[in-house]
Amino acid sequence: MSEHSFCRSCGNKLFEVVNFGKMPIANAFVHKEQFKKEYMFQLMAMNCPRCSLFQLYEQPDPSLLFHDNYAFLADTSRVMQQHFSLLAEELIKDFNLKNDELVTEIGSNDSGVIYYLNKSYKHTNHLGVEPSKNVCEISNSKGLRMKNLFFNSNTASNLISEFGKSKYFISLNTLAHIPDINSVLKGIHDFLTDDGIYITEDPYLFDVFNKVSYDQIYDEHVFIFSVTAMKNLCDKFNLQLFDVKKTDTAGGSMRYYITKNKTTKISRNLVSYLDFEKKNGIFETKIYSTFRKNCEKSKNSLLDTLTTLAEKNNKIVSYGATSKSTTIFNYCNIGTDLISFITDTTSTKINKYSPGVHIPIYDYEYFLNNLPNYCFLGAWNHRKEISIKEKEIFSKKGKWIIHTPEAKIINDL
Ligand code: TYD
Repeated sequence: MSEHSFCRSCGNKLFEVVNFGKMPIANAFVHKEQFKKEYMFQLMAMNCPRCSLFQLYEQPDPSLLFHDNYAFLADTSRVMQQHFSLLAEELIKDFNLKNDELVTEIGSNDSGVIYYLNKSYKHTNHLGVEPSKNVCEISNSKGLRMKNLFFNSNTASNLISEFGKSKYFISLNTLAHIPDINSVLKGIHDFLTDDGIYITEDPYLFDVFNKVSYDQIYDEHVFIFSVTAMKNLCDKFNLQLFDVKKTDTAGGSMRYYITKNKTTKISRNLVSYLDFEKKNGIFETKIYSTFRKNCEKSKNSLLDTLTTLAEKNNKIVSYGATSKSTTIFNYCNIGTDLISFITDTTSTKINKYSPGVHIPIYDYEYFLNNLPNYCFLGAWNHRKEISIKEKEIFSKKGKWIIHTPEAKIINDL
């Protein structure tokens, strides 16, 4: 565990944005006998007034988060799989990726972009770097070349000795998870060829603010990037951010295109996002205090909605045992008095309990046999996919509860 009053990148003093109180590890789904041993930490979002890097105050040791039994498997979401596959296509078609050019992906999970490069385009010169042993083994079994380690400037130099430099470097939903951002960016700078391109994507700060999706804030998301903060980070490591692309995944993300080649032309899209963030107050304190107030409003409206329904003996279930819902349930103090159970399709979560508030997690078959009156959409980042899946099933019988920006009951997703 480490506490940070100073920016992890530039060292400037941080200011507090929202204090969510004591939290368990968001993705640490537990068995009954582990209830008393749960690790708790202070979940507090901070911001750096100098480089605009939005970050956590305290974070548990990464080995507690990404271990041999990491509960997230990317291939449980069809939409995410399609997203990875489209980036593989972009590398081949738009960037003219050649078979002898190395593509390295960190946090490639059990089937990231390199999986699709290999499967759809027979691109074999790839390397996946993944700290969780179980997901690494799954990737190995799919024929991918993997290294089971945490990526940083030290491990990067070993990788360069073994594999040479990388033409493309990818991290989707990964960079925001790595606390030692300076070491990882130095590692990427060293690992990239001189004309190499780094493509990274993570939840976008202005989506979090606009949607009041405060549940994007949990132990694994040490940072929530804005374009401004990403540009500052790149400048510090002599990297050039040259383009950005808005994506819908993970509740609203931004993709960043970065290179070592300082002569690369900067896109108009990038300039307009920097301008947008400035105009919307990224350098002022108001945007952060408004977000804090909006989090409180969202919490109160969700508690009111659930309490009113529960008082009328409605059965409420949460759909998707997400890390995000760990923040919601613990911040709002929502337990089995309000939510009967959580349904999820991930084998490593089923028949366990949610962190902190200990709501039981049952599989999809149990859900089908015990359909509730209301479903709280815990996995709201998969809304489209769930909407299609449930159109003829749950949506025919019950109603949905969504919590962003304020709690609302809706008939269909
Ligand atoms: P995830 O997207 O990883 O969210 P977080 O990063 O907040 O943990 O988790 C989504 C969870 O939702 C995952 O455990 C799988 C589950 N899920 C279902 O149970 N049914 C579905 O139809 C979908 C799309 C996801």
